[in-house]
Amino acid sequence: MINKIKASVLTIIVIVVSVFMGKSFLNRYIFAEVQPVQPIKFNHRSHVTNNKIPCKYCHIYAKRSNVSGVPSVERCMGCHSSIKNVKNDKGELKKLVSHWENKKPIAWTKVYNLADYIYFSHRSHITVAKIDCKECHGDVAKMDTVRRVPNINMGWCLHCHSDNNGPTGDCWGCHQ
Ligand code: HEC
Ligand code: HEC
Ligand code: HEC
Ligand code: HEC
Ligand code: HEC
Repeated sequence: MINKIKASVLTIIVIVVSVFMGKSFLNRYIFAEVQPVQPIKFNHRSHVTNNKIPCKYCHIYAKRSNVSGVPSVERCMGCHSSIKNVKNDKGELKKLVSHWENKKPIAWTKVYNLADYIYFSHRSHITVAKIDCKECHGDVAKMDTVRRVPNINMGWCLHCHSDNNGPTGDCWGCHQ
């Protein structure tokens, strides 16, 4: 009896540990490109959750065009020419200021990137279909570093379309 309990406790521990290690292993080595290291450590949690800056303040195109766009250095400096000293900052704001002074755009690495032959419009999904950013990008407001949440492929698009009356039949609606 005791041995049986010991054996099953041990099995559970082994399962938990391997699931845990497996997950961090996969995240670190297999899905590494899903959470790229950015040229400046930009923190969504600190901007969106702690300082209440709306997504669309920075992602200005999200509502009206095909791409969301990432804010320009100028947009950052709209706040950071006056917000210069931040307690938790470890030299990242200095990098920002140096981009500004040298008129050098920041080369952000894309987290979400569909093949060029796919047509995807944020406007249709946000304004017309009224889908929240969270549905497709996860809870970015709570992320210190953005990571890609859904694995974006054709099945992902089609699943949501068939559940929500989006287009499913017309190949050329998405392939252009
Ligand atoms: C609407 C104003 C606003 C804009 C635009 C803005 N920031 Fe910030 N940023 C803040 C505030 C407020 C803080 C935090 C201040 C504090 O907590 O004391 C902050 C903090 C930071 C920090 C310090 C670390 C952290 O996240 O707490 C960095 C680095 C930073 N911002 C980079 C950027 C970059 C890069 C951009 C442009 C892509 C940008 N910010 C755009 C307001 C802004
Ligand atoms: C203060 C400006 C700012 C605000 C507010 C902000 N973002 Fe961002 N966002 C950025 C910057 C800069 C990047 C590029 C760097 C990075 O990936 O961290 C980015 C990247 C992203 C990406 C990844 C883009 C890619 O490369 O594919 C997503 C998705 C995103 N933001 C969603 C959101 C959502 C959702 C909100 C609101 C909950 C939000 N953002 C609020 C500045 C902002
Ligand atoms: C229906 C799903 C969906 C919704 C809703 C959605 N996105 Fe996206 N988003 C995507 C896809 C798919 C991509 C990749 C597009 C590409 O690579 O062409 C993307 C890319 C991005 C990018 C990368 C930069 C760019 O210009 O393409 C940012 C930033 C972003 N989204 C922010 C947002 C924000 C902010 C919201 C809410 C206001 C939002 N998204 C709502 C699916 C969505
Ligand atoms: C979370 C649900 C959801 C996801 C995920 C989603 N869509 Fe949609 N999509 C919709 C809905 C709902 C509509 C219908 C909007 C309307 O009423 O016009 C739509 C409409 C469209 C349209 C027709 C309108 C237009 O812009 O021409 C295209 C094309 C499209 N989606 C492409 C995509 C692609 C490509 C992907 C994957 C990368 C995708 N969608 C992922 C829900 C989604
Ligand atoms: C709702 C949008 C949508 C529709 C409708 C759609 N596709 Fe796709 N398709 C995609 C996306 C997104 C990808 C993945 C692109 C990427 O990898 O960046 C894709 C990829 C593909 C690929 C490349 C192989 C792969 O799996 O990556 C083929 C082949 C393909 N689609 C064929 C079709 C055919 C045939 C139809 C019509 C029966 C169709 N698609 C309809 C969105 C769509």
